[in-house]
Amino acid sequence: MTMQKQKIDKIFKLTNRELWIVTAGTPQQRGGLLATWVLQASLDRASPVLVAGIAPNHFTRELIDDTGAFATHLLRQSQVDLALKFALQSGRNVDKLAGLRVSETETGNPVLQDVLCWLDCRVFARLDTGNRIFYWADVIAGEQQENSPPLTEQELLNHTDDDIRARLILDRESDIEQQKSQYNEWRENLPPLLRPI
Ligand SMILES: Cc1cc2nc3c(=O)[nH]c(=O)nc-3n(C[C@H](O)[C@H](O)[C@H](O)COP(=O)(O)O)c2cc1C
Repeated sequence: MTMQKQKIDKIFKLTNRELWIVTAGTPQQRGGLLATWVLQASLDRASPVLVAGIAPNHFTRELIDDTGAFATHLLRQSQVDLALKFALQSGRNVDKLAGLRVSETETGNPVLQDVLCWLDCRVFARLDTGNRIFYWADVIAGEQQENSPPLTEQELLNHTDDDIRARLILDRESDIEQQKSQYNEWRENLPPLLRPI
């Protein structure tokens, strides 16, 4: 990385984003992943909207596309192991929700009960940018179990050892590699609606 890119990276590290577990699917086929790319996206509190950015190669993305819905959860600061469970393996090979207390929402989403809070979301718009699929979703229900600060990215990194950190970095690099050509193609052929003036 060049000096300039290192400076930029250091500035990004000044931020400390909340960690969300995004789940989707049905009782027969379910899954979820750890995500930082989740944002409240509505000014009007009477119509709550959320945007989530999910990588196209992730199993959870397939589940969201199949059902048109997903749930997001914030975690307690002590739930580092739960966060890693959803980050370090793919739902294609394992049911990450097995053994956890799970219930089903109105939209059919699996939600984790033993967390800080959850939101149930129904997708109404989708944008594929090659390395992320952005989903705009109406938030139709939510439950909060506790009133405490959520687990964040920096806390997760502070509580993981070198081996785990190395695995997370490898996973990120593998994602970047897998998505590179679709992302470049999207940038080179932007639909007219998305071109800067
Ligand atoms: C701190 C952190 C933040 C992440 N944020 C996102 C994200 O916003 N969107 C995403 O698609 N993946 C994100 N990931 C990667 C997924 O959690 C991870 O690749 C997961 O295992 C994918 O699972 P799946 O294939 O079962 O869907 C993040 C990982 C970490 C460690």
